[in-house]
Amino acid sequence: METTVTEIDAGIFRLSTHVAEIAPPAGFTFNQFLVLADEPLLFHTGPRRMFPLVRAAVAKLMRPEDLRWITFGHVEADECGAMNEWLALAPRAQVAHGKTACFVSLNDLADRSPRMLDDGEVIDIGGNKRLRYLDTPHVPHGWEAGLFYEETSGTLLCGDLFTQLGDGPALTAGDIVGPAIAAEDMFKSSSLSPNMGATIRRLADLSPRKLALMHGPSFEGDGAAALTALAADYDRRISF
Ligand SMILES: [Fe+2]
Ligand SMILES: [Fe+2]
Repeated sequence: METTVTEIDAGIFRLSTHVAEIAPPAGFTFNQFLVLADEPLLFHTGPRRMFPLVRAAVAKLMRPEDLRWITFGHVEADECGAMNEWLALAPRAQVAHGKTACFVSLNDLADRSPRMLDDGEVIDIGGNKRLRYLDTPHVPHGWEAGLFYEETSGTLLCGDLFTQLGDGPALTAGDIVGPAIAAEDMFKSSSLSPNMGATIRRLADLSPRKLALMHGPSFEGDGAAALTALAADYDRRISF
């Protein structure tokens, strides 16, 4: 396996590893996002077994020991499995997540105390980069789920939303809604709930210019339209 590094916006890097054995023949990608700034921030650590690959990819861009913030969408191996490996490697690093994640899991699971964020709270990491934390409970899954929005670039680090199969380009202006609907039909990974559409439409209100997918290409274009279409598909799934 190989991890490719692509700058999807100024100072925002996509670290992408395609795993051919998952969902063959298309395979499945695992992406982390490194935001370079005075206080570098990683969104998703990757699973523990992928830590050497992700660390090596980060090392192409900065000293891994200088990582300051460890963030992720929710508590699952591919989102945060290597959290404690990063805490051990980087002495100033701290996990940052919402209250639910901290109270339910991270105050216990993380080897150093996490920084607990309010819904809408901003971490200013310097270098003109501002990460706003947004609670998204149960979207797409996990009570503790939340996402981050980089305000300067208009990049929504959207985690498992829009998950798709295959190893596409690093950045696309093409359709990401159709492939996400197909993947949801196959994996059924979302926690379908009555609030799902409303939670996703709240993200659409940000009008993001880029969507950084954890499993798929990053998207450049009308992020509000894509999120609104995804919300409509979830509304369809729960209306019966
Ligand atoms: Fe997930
Ligand atoms: Fe994921």
